[in-house]
Amino acid sequence: VNKKVERHISADDISEMDRVFRLRLINTVSGYKSASLIGTSDDRGNTNLATFNSVVHIGSNPPLIGFIVRPSTVPRHTLSNILDTGNYTINLISEAITEQSHCCSANFEKGVSEFKACGLTEWYDQSIASPYVAESPVKLGMTFKEKIDIKSNGTCLIVGEVEEIYFTDDFLTAEGDVDLGKARAVAISGLNHYHRVSKLSTYPYARVDGLPEFDRKDK
Ligand SMILES: Cc1cc2nc3c(=O)[nH]c(=O)nc-3n(C[C@H](O)[C@H](O)[C@H](O)COP(=O)(O)O)c2cc1C
Repeated sequence: VNKKVERHISADDISEMDRVFRLRLINTVSGYKSASLIGTSDDRGNTNLATFNSVVHIGSNPPLIGFIVRPSTVPRHTLSNILDTGNYTINLISEAITEQSHCCSANFEKGVSEFKACGLTEWYDQSIASPYVAESPVKLGMTFKEKIDIKSNGTCLIVGEVEEIYFTDDFLTAEGDVDLGKARAVAISGLNHYHRVSKLSTYPYARVDGLPEFDRKDK
């Protein structure tokens, strides 16, 4: 077993780091993230689309999904639209739209729709007023449930309930999994690396009395 430490970074090192170096380090060190576009509109129907890598499962019954919004030091259009209208869409980013999706993170003026500026297509359904991304293979219609302020750094966790799900193709397996590989959904590392994902393995539900025999070196 290789227990060698090649490099150690202390809390002091982190606080003294160049801002962008630290941002890259802390954004990549917690591993690969999901890649989503969140679609909203304001109360006048102006549409907005933004890139998010913090979409996370909260619970399945009721079906809750959350994401983190950065501090309100600048206007956050996604957040203000959600608080105004109470709904939004989450659209998984696929290999075919990584560049367009990345461009949606640019700081556009409120009146400018990222859909038009970044070459993506608005798509609507009856029950959710917010725009979906037509090109996205897996789309969720969400209703806003709660905003949890994170005191440590001024960010907040937005929790929403899944109202409906759209697949552009047969991505749902008989067991209930979404086949993200078939959908060609990508993963993000840091804030600007997009990864094609290939599945390594699938295991049954882990039970203490049904584990394989591991070769434990510390016995
Ligand atoms: C890969 C990537 C992931 C991002 N993830 C988040 C995120 O999880 N939360 C957040 O507040 N901003 C995130 N951003 C930044 C937003 O996309 C950016 O601030 C955008 O302009 C917000 O748009 P809005 O003001 O229309 O909401 C991310 C940017 C990139 C490039």
